[in-house]
Amino acid sequence: MFKILTIAVLTCTSIYAQGDQIARQEQEKKKQAAAPVLSMNGAPPVDAAAAERGKKLFEPACGFCHGLDARGKSGPDLLRSTLVLHDENGGQIATVIRTGRPDRGMPPFATMTDQQISDISAFLHAGTLAISNRFGYEIKGLMTGDAKQGEAFFNVDGQCTKCHSATGDLAHVAGKYEPVELQRRLLLPAPNMIDMFMGKKVKPPPPSKVRVTLPSGEVHAGVLVHADEFTVVMQESGGVKSFDLTPGTKVDIDNPLAAHEAMLAKYTDAQMHNMLAYLETLK
Ligand code: HEC
Ligand code: HEC
Repeated sequence: MFKILTIAVLTCTSIYAQGDQIARQEQEKKKQAAAPVLSMNGAPPVDAAAAERGKKLFEPACGFCHGLDARGKSGPDLLRSTLVLHDENGGQIATVIRTGRPDRGMPPFATMTDQQISDISAFLHAGTLAISNRFGYEIKGLMTGDAKQGEAFFNVDGQCTKCHSATGDLAHVAGKYEPVELQRRLLLPAPNMIDMFMGKKVKPPPPSKVRVTLPSGEVHAGVLVHADEFTVVMQESGGVKSFDLTPGTKVDIDNPLAAHEAMLAKYTDAQMHNMLAYLETLK
């Protein structure tokens, strides 16, 4: 049912090719940083001070191409980039930033430190969260959609019925949430960051499952705790285990929210409004 996301350990291999020494140092650093903190499935908490530092770095260095607000100019919209959505503390975007993609117009920023990249990541995540919360500030615009078109999208183009049913799990969804919260959960069914900051009890997102196949062929499977370019941490039946992603190691992550994260990057405003108008009929 869920899309299987396969991470080829490509980034890892290229880093090894650049120099064993640096790779091992980086790996040690990452291992220390890879404390088993629950991954929030695309919605990690954002440190406001880090986001502010990141903004100051981003605007002059990246804003020219990606837009001062990162919503895209000659370079792509980074707030709807799945790479950025999956980034944790800069781990996933570091390679793109440091090596660039010169053949496609993205210059390398080879001297950026881990700290600077992590701050930029915080800035981008603050923007991503603002997108998923944007309807909180546009309540009037929120209820302007066409329920009929929303229903058609639900059943056909949106492929929502792969996982949901209007008479089953979503039957009374509009009675469960205020429109703003329903819109937010539709976009990213993860805990509400504001509730988290306020220290309220929040329902955790459905966990991702992970399978690691070691070069020897040995397979480990469990619930994903943390993943970055260097390490995967999982909760196995025997306890928490950490795996180094040496070349030849294969990782399959099964994220139940992958479909929602992919949609978040693609929805038009009209589709979102129509979808919400339809969901609002499910009282
Ligand atoms: C001269 C223009 C330019 C500048 C400056 C620039 N970028 Fe880019 N960036 C691009 C282009 C073009 C792409 C798309 C490359 C491609 O098609 O793969 C890109 C891609 C990216 C991606 C990958 C997005 C994805 O979804 O694959 C990230 C992340 C990124 N840039 C971050 C940054 C950051 C952070 C900075 C500043 C430190 C920056 N860029 C500066 C032009 C630029
Ligand atoms: C591949 C599976 C999948 C697809 C496709 C999918 N969803 Fe979801 N959806 C989920 C999961 C998993 C959750 C989280 C459920 C939870 O928190 O227990 C969720 C949560 C939701 C929620 C919040 C429900 C609640 O009670 O909190 C809404 C609303 C929703 N989805 C709407 C949609 C719509 C509309 C589409 C199509 C545009 C869609 N989903 C497509 C898997 C999917």
